[in-house]
Formats: sequence, C-alpha cells, structure tokens
Amino acid sequence: MQSKEIRERYLKFFEKRGHTIIPSATLVPANYDIPDKGTLFTTAGMQPLVPYLLGEKHPAGSRLVDVQKCVRTGDIEDVGDNRHLTFFEMMGNWSLGDYFKKESIAWSLEFLTDKNEGLGLDPKRLYVTTFKGEDGIPRDDDSVIFWQENFAKYGLSAVVGTDDETITGDIRILPLGREDNFWIAGVTGPCGGDTEIFYDVIGEKKGGKLFGKFSDLTKSGRLIEIWNNVFMEFNKTTDGKYEPLTKKNVDTGMGLERTTLVMQGKANVFETDIFVPLLTFIRSQAKSYDEMSARIVSDHVRSAVFMISDGVTPANTEAGYVLRRVLRRAIRHLDKLGLSGEVIFDLIKIVITNFSYAYPELKDNKAEILEVIRAEDEKFRLTLEKGLREFEKGIDAFDLFQTYGFPIEMTVELAKEKGIKIDVAVFGEKMKKHQEISKAGSEQKFKGGLAGTGEVETRYHTATHLLLAALRNVLKGEIVQKGSNITTERMRFDFNWPEKLTAEQIKEVEDLVNEKIQEKLPVIMVEMPKEEAKKAVTTLSFDLSKYGDTVKVYKIGDQSPVGQVFSAEFCGGPHVANTSELGHFKIVKEEAVSAGVRRIKATIV
Ligand code: SER
Repeated sequence: MQSKEIRERYLKFFEKRGHTIIPSATLVPANYDIPDKGTLFTTAGMQPLVPYLLGEKHPAGSRLVDVQKCVRTGDIEDVGDNRHLTFFEMMGNWSLGDYFKKESIAWSLEFLTDKNEGLGLDPKRLYVTTFKGEDGIPRDDDSVIFWQENFAKYGLSAVVGTDDETITGDIRILPLGREDNFWIAGVTGPCGGDTEIFYDVIGEKKGGKLFGKFSDLTKSGRLIEIWNNVFMEFNKTTDGKYEPLTKKNVDTGMGLERTTLVMQGKANVFETDIFVPLLTFIRSQAKSYDEMSARIVSDHVRSAVFMISDGVTPANTEAGYVLRRVLRRAIRHLDKLGLSGEVIFDLIKIVITNFSYAYPELKDNKAEILEVIRAEDEKFRLTLEKGLREFEKGIDAFDLFQTYGFPIEMTVELAKEKGIKIDVAVFGEKMKKHQEISKAGSEQKFKGGLAGTGEVETRYHTATHLLLAALRNVLKGEIVQKGSNITTERMRFDFNWPEKLTAEQIKEVEDLVNEKIQEKLPVIMVEMPKEEAKKAVTTLSFDLSKYGDTVKVYKIGDQSPVGQVFSAEFCGGPHVANTSELGHFKIVKEEAVSAGVRRIKATIV
C-alpha cells in the first residue's frame, strides 16, 4: 500500500465515523492562528489544537481527523538510522469532549486490521501498552478491558503483562508507567495516560513466538510503535497541579512514515515510497555514493522545502537557524556525495512534485522555495571556502559561527572529520552572550513547556492585529503577515516590505496603534463560512485551504466613529475584548529578515 493510500484511507475511515477532515496547520506556530506554545515548530499533531483541547469550541465540531506536518530536530544526529526524520507527518483523530476510550480503542483496532477500509494488518502481530498508574494518577483499567473485548473479536485472548515487563505466552497488553504511557507536550498543558500500539515487524512465522523484555523488543526493532492514543483528562498547570479538564479528549498520533514502513515491509523509512524517488535520484547521480549521506540529504531537503513553504527563511536565530542548519548540512553531504550544486534543485523539485497532492501550497510556493535555497546555497558556498581556511588555521568555533555562519554542529562535524576536538563548553559560554540564539533548538523550548494562553500573550495577539492594520495604513501597501511570534516580553511580526522603514514611518505606525488603543475599540469575533471570511477580512495572510469550512474572523473597530472596521483578520484567537486592555505600544526594533521581508519587535507595557 502506497503512502498516499494510507493517508486517504485513514482520513476516510474517520470521516465515515463522524469526523470532519481538517487541513494541517502550518509548521510554524503562528500566534494568529493558535496561541504560541513557545516552540519554533509544530512538533506534534496536538499542538495546533491546544486551545480546543483545553475547552474552546472548534468550528469544525467535536470529532476531527487530520494529517499534521511536524518538525522535530532534537534527534537530528540520528537521521539516517531506520526511522529518525526531522520532518514527518502525523495522522490523528480527535475527540474534543466527544467519544473516549471505548470508541477510540475499537476504531484503532478496526482501522489497523480491516482489509477493505483500513490497513489489513494481522491482529496477532499487534501488542499494546497502557498506563499502569503512578504518582497519584490512577491506573487505566478501562483501556485494558476495551482492548481485551476488541482482541476477543479476533479470537485472541489478550493477557495482561506483569511488572517484569516481559512479553510471553498470550500476553498482549502491558501496563507501563509515566515514562512510557503518560503524554504531555513539554511541562504544562492538556495531558493524560495513553495506550500505545506496537507491531511485530517480523511475525511469528519468521521470528518465532514473540518473547522477551518489552524494552529489548522495541530496541531491537522487532516491535515498532505505530500509534498512540492519548486520553486527555487533565490540564497540568504551571504550579504542577493536574486540574481535571471539563471535557475529556482523545488525541491520537500515527506517524505516516512509520506506518508506511510497516505496510511496505521495509527495514527503514528510506526504503518506503516516501523516500525512494529521492534516494534513487541521488544514487544515480552521486560520484561517491554513501547511504548515510544520501539519507541525510533526502530528509533535510524535504524538511527545508516544507519549512520554507510555511514562511521560514534562513537566519541565525530561532526557526530560521534550524532551517539554515538543515540546509547547510544537506549541502555539505551533497558535496560528500560528489554531487554538483545543481542536484539540490532537482531534489527540491522531486519533493514538490511528490507531495503537492497533499500539500498544494508547495506548488504555489515553488519559485520562492527555489529562490530561498538558491540564495542560501550561494551564501554558504562563498563562506564555506573562506571559513574552512580559517578553520584550518584554528579559528574558534564561535567566530566561525558569527562571521561565517557555521552552525556549531557543523563545525563539530568538520572537526571530527579532521581529528580536531572542539571545546563545545567554551563555545557555549560565548553563545550565551549572543542574544536569542539559545532559543534555536525547538526541542529545548518544547521541554521548557507550553506557555499557556496567558493574559499577556492574549494582549499581544490583539496588538499584532493592530500592528498589521497600522502598517497597511501607513505604508499603503498590500502588507501580509510573514511570521509572528509572541512571548510574555514582546511580540515579533514579519511582513512583506522591500525596504527599511524610516523613523517617521515607525513613529506613524506606533502612533496609529496607540490611537486605536485609546479609542477603546471592541474586539468582536464572528464565525463565518470560509468563502464569506475571504471577503470580510482586510488582508489574507493565510492560505485558507489549510483551514476548515467555518472560520473565525476577529474585527476591531466595528463601532468606531467613522463606522469602519480598522482590522478584520481571519484568526483562531484568543484576543482581548477591548483594545483599551493593551497598554502603550512601542516598536523596539525594525530589521530585515530576508530579501523583501521585514521584522518588527514591539512591546505593550
Ligand atoms: N500527542 C501524541 C503524540 O504526539 C498523540 O498524538 O504522540
């Protein structure tokens, strides 16, 4: 079964069971759409849905199904093994206060095993873990019962394992602790016990009856996790309390790449139809083929294409740094493979061609993607040569980073190849002083926890709308949002504009925003059909194809004296009720992000 069919079957299966298909949210958590969770990229399917998992009403209803684009770069060094990737897709079905464990488990088993509507996997090769209860959070006995009932339909007696965590005999259900079976994104936010589904990739016929310690079976790769059903019952607050959610949710996550690996009986994701076209091309062109480098290039190019398509541009901080890192790493490995500079463009085109059926925006953004990568490639090659010479003279890692844009990870890799040792601690010290860069690792931020839809952030959200409207007024141009990020200290807003703003323009923008704050304008949310919203909004910064049929539009200034809407933006919220809640708006920085894109940092204190 091809990955395309797996994706389609999944969406259809749940659609038939009352779920609305919703499009993937952007890879870059934009505050406009969802509260910023302090992460640089969307790292899990649940992330864009956090507000709804915490109780907000979703316009598309209480049963949703999607395939979400995700980026995780914490394991970038592991890319090239059998399953690690920096970009992946997560299929998920969602219950927002609707069904719970019973239906979720029944449907999971049905989808995995049904030959006509699902994947047709052999139920005998499926094993599950459940939450055994820990730290005052009770054991999940319901899931155990539901699994047993459902396995029984196939004549399988699913025995529950013991604390020695060994699978033997008819054991098919293994209760494990928090480490394995309690899911939370970061430190705070919606969470709960989960049940994970594993597939025996070898099977009894070839490998004999499955036997052994669970952790050994997963480590050896015989058991591979394919699906996680999280039963969200709590909201973990910043003071560490688990507050029961008013409505219980189901959040499931099934990695498309891993599922494809299982369905195609392959040993690693790079042998699936998702990656074969890229690897085949590299193999046909490489002068010195190296499987590891080819895998790294395939993964990184795919990642970069999706990041750029969602508005990321190479930079020395935050998401832009992650992009720069994967791109430069890809370029270096292309060189290692003896491939000419042109090959990267062929690979980009393969990615765009192969994934546009699911993400048509790739086709729309093709010119931009090619241009961003071309520019970065050129920049990198120019500095690479110079930087390498300096490196050989013994210049330190931080200078290489600052002057030549050498990511530290790359310097370490280069040094390793040449048998030189880099003192990463010294680099770290210098780096600390280098503003903002510590935010570069998305996982680091993710570990830092979900910030929660704080009051301050909410105010910044509304200020972002005011800023966009003011820019449009002052610059008299078709200004659209190119990126947005909010912390409790400041807002950051990227937009299209070819040149530096003058001091007068900045002052005018500030004044206009403050004027609107002083006018005490109400902020009104209207839910409307997407087509209607397209006409109602002042600008269209988003690709609406990514959203459901009903969307929210936030209007500011509906009742202003002139009777005009100052701002009407398509947005998921949240927002303050009145602009008077905002405080004094000040632009603290205006700078370039990339050609044609400017960035404003501002505060409201
Ligand atoms: N949130 C869970 C995960 O990412 C299930 O979607 O694994």
